[in-house]
Amino acid sequence: MVSETVTERSAVQSGAEVLVASNRGPVSYALQEGGELSAKRGGGGLVSGLSAIGPEAGAVWVCAALGDGDREAVRRSGGLLDTADTGGQRVRMLDIPAEVHAAAYNGVANSVLWFVHHMLYQTPVEPVFDADFREQWAAYEAYNAAFAGALAEAAGPGAAVLVQDYHLALVPGMLREVRPDVRIAHFSHTPWAPPEYFALLPDDVQRQLLLGILGADRANFLTERWARAFAACCERALGPDCTAHWPRHEPPSVVAGPTAHRTRIGVHGLGADAEFLRERSRRPDVEERMAGLREQIGGAGRKTVVRVDRTELSKNIVRGLLAFRRLLADRPEWRERVVHLAFAYPSRQDLAVYRDYTARVGALAEEINAEYGTATWQPVVLHVKDDFARSLAAYRLADVALVNPIRDGMNLVAKEVPVVSDAGCALVLSREAGAWVELGADALTVNPYDVGQTAEALHAALTMPVEERAARTARLAAAATALPPARWFLEQLRALEE
Ligand code: F6P
Repeated sequence: MVSETVTERSAVQSGAEVLVASNRGPVSYALQEGGELSAKRGGGGLVSGLSAIGPEAGAVWVCAALGDGDREAVRRSGGLLDTADTGGQRVRMLDIPAEVHAAAYNGVANSVLWFVHHMLYQTPVEPVFDADFREQWAAYEAYNAAFAGALAEAAGPGAAVLVQDYHLALVPGMLREVRPDVRIAHFSHTPWAPPEYFALLPDDVQRQLLLGILGADRANFLTERWARAFAACCERALGPDCTAHWPRHEPPSVVAGPTAHRTRIGVHGLGADAEFLRERSRRPDVEERMAGLREQIGGAGRKTVVRVDRTELSKNIVRGLLAFRRLLADRPEWRERVVHLAFAYPSRQDLAVYRDYTARVGALAEEINAEYGTATWQPVVLHVKDDFARSLAAYRLADVALVNPIRDGMNLVAKEVPVVSDAGCALVLSREAGAWVELGADALTVNPYDVGQTAEALHAALTMPVEERAARTARLAAAATALPPARWFLEQLRALEE
């Protein structure tokens, strides 16, 4: 399965014109018992967005090997993966030493940077930046340097390099040092922390992260809110060395460092891929899953509240379940008449705090079922095994979609449901999701911490007249698909060329 052609290899060696870099690539490998490798699509919003680029864009995607299967694939292929496994996309996978990757990815990216940008710390006791953190930070630097080195080697003269996310914040600065000829963009797929919260990080780490991104020609974000937070962090942490310009009618920029390098700030709100979703969600495997879900929902005319998330702390699944319980408690008329389909797919299970959170979700679903369930009605149907066809089936069936993150860069589920929905679906949406900027007008807005308000919003959504629901869904779908992934990518590329 893993092989490479001479043409593919030489294309990289002769210098690519467009390169994308991200920790997670579009494919991951598992080693089977017989020694063969099986390939599977990578998960998360970043991969969903970038996967739509398509091989015709001619880009080379540089990513990290994440597990033993990936490392074996790198070993067998020499690093440039078989395009049969990647949907035609040229992918160069880096085999960064496992302990360096683990310290950079789990120790810094997921346990520190993710927590800072999503404001997840319990600040009386965490974070603590001690000697262990300094070791992990050194690994983060080494891991970023490995990416910068690989990009410097693979990029042709004047190439466009699009670096993705908080994992690779140091790459733009490192790459500029060795390849001043290439044009670099950095994209943040997460929210950006407000300056007071970003200031939790050690001062030198703040500076390195910000100057790393400011090594790019463009720093791109999903919404203006996150872009402004970034600019504010630059001004606060870099002091007189830095000025943020946010003129009314011109593109914003940040000027920083001894050479007064200017980084343009861009906002590109990734949208849903309507064409792909509509076609994919009408295939037989989705119909089959719909039949299965209907059986689990049971009872004629029963309504559904659907959520689909990776089980991340920021997704606020626990408060979503508490809100559903509150709905059943406060409005008994919904008992036996509504089912909460909660799909919570495992994520980052190497981290104890994620494992504990996953367990809490499972326990709470059981508690609600024990408290309210009857012989013919299971109030919460929780699925934890990632199944894309079943997610689409739930989107199609949903009367209400619950998207209540504490904080989210965008949230593509909020954008996908209205596109796929069969009969219109009311959207209960957190004001802290990036998607709220585009969808808020036709959603029922909630404060994600307010369980009582969320329960009331669920009630309002469940009782929304069908015509209103359908009209809102049509407007939501239009807003959600304003910038589909392929155009989102091209827009960034064009901006970099200007
Ligand atoms: O869903 C998008 C995202 O949150 C990106 O910000 C990020 O790059 C990705 O998920 C990371 O997820 P994982 O740790 O599973 O690779």
